[in-house]
Amino acid sequence: YGALPLVDCTGKLVVPGLVDLHVHAPQYAYRGLGMDMELLDWLNTTAFPEEAKYADVGYAKRAYPLFVEDLKRGATTRAAMFATLHGPATRVLMDLVEDSGLVAYVGKVNMDRNSPDFLREESAEASACATVAWLEAVAGQYRRVKPILTPRFIPSCSDELMERLGQLQRTYRLPVQSHLSENQGEVEWVKELCPAAACYGDAYAGVGLFGGGAPTIMAHCVLSGEEEIRMMKERGVWVAHCPQSNTNIASGIAPVRRYLQEGISMGLGSDVAGGHSTSIFRAMADAIQVSKLRWRLQDQSLAPLTVEEAFWLGTAGGGSFFGAVGSFLPGYELDAVVLDDRRLRSTRALTLKERLERVIYLSDDRDVAGKFVQGRRVL
Ligand code: GUN
Ligand code: FE
Repeated sequence: YGALPLVDCTGKLVVPGLVDLHVHAPQYAYRGLGMDMELLDWLNTTAFPEEAKYADVGYAKRAYPLFVEDLKRGATTRAAMFATLHGPATRVLMDLVEDSGLVAYVGKVNMDRNSPDFLREESAEASACATVAWLEAVAGQYRRVKPILTPRFIPSCSDELMERLGQLQRTYRLPVQSHLSENQGEVEWVKELCPAAACYGDAYAGVGLFGGGAPTIMAHCVLSGEEEIRMMKERGVWVAHCPQSNTNIASGIAPVRRYLQEGISMGLGSDVAGGHSTSIFRAMADAIQVSKLRWRLQDQSLAPLTVEEAFWLGTAGGGSFFGAVGSFLPGYELDAVVLDDRRLRSTRALTLKERLERVIYLSDDRDVAGKFVQGRRVL
């Protein structure tokens, strides 16, 4: 290694890069707004009108850099992102992420029903065709950014569209991301829309978009029942736990301890702009806090999360969706964040673990002194 450059990190903490397993890039520009609403009202009032603006590539070129610059400055090294239903604007986001040096899955969203005229694809066929056009346009264009199939959620996608997306998954062998059992009003609506499905997850499984051969991230899983939990486990679905969003838009608290006990794959998501912060350190602290409320108020059989568990979820837990990512164990890709915790002053002599704990709760982007993704320095 004699010829390689040496980076002196003396006195700093070096930790695996953080992974955001669920984030909406086009919602970044209005984060922090509408946080007094519930999911379905919040979508109609804030998310949909903002996402419609991305029909204009010029708007995407102004707005997406704000998001990507934020992500680059922070401790996140990898993310699974929703864009909007617009192929050209989605490519703008992919270009920016590629240039940032971060690694990401980015999805053009599909939605052909139960959405306003200004944010709905004309038909299942039009949505599938636009997806193929986007996939063909991005094929071979990126080293660090990959496409991911992104049906928004069952209420936004007709049965025919879901069938077509299942076919596209098999043709292009794509991973999948969507939302599952997030909020009471949504879950009741899905029961009405899919009376034949055994559970919400079964509506995805029925078309081959729920794990098995299709690596799948399902965001939230706050209200999953026994059948759904069994299916997620059997099919190897990743859960993206989004504690801040679940608090903001009144979805509830996911039974994360149960998912850990079942051995279900899981990571943390910011779910910006359901969540208002892009920080996965913040998501770790939120995950611990809401797990305590759940244990205290809802179910004393499920113990709260420990700091180690929350840190694992935000690194290796979510990282596993990307391969051997999120740990310094042998064989893992090198994603590392260098943290200067001197700003977090104390009179105490802190152990290494205590310093990490305080970074989780107290640090912000100012404390990120360096960042490496796949061995390359990006910050
Ligand atoms: N369900 C469908 N779309 C969305 C979204 O944009 N955010 C969240 N949190 N849930 C959703
Ligand atoms: Fe979401």
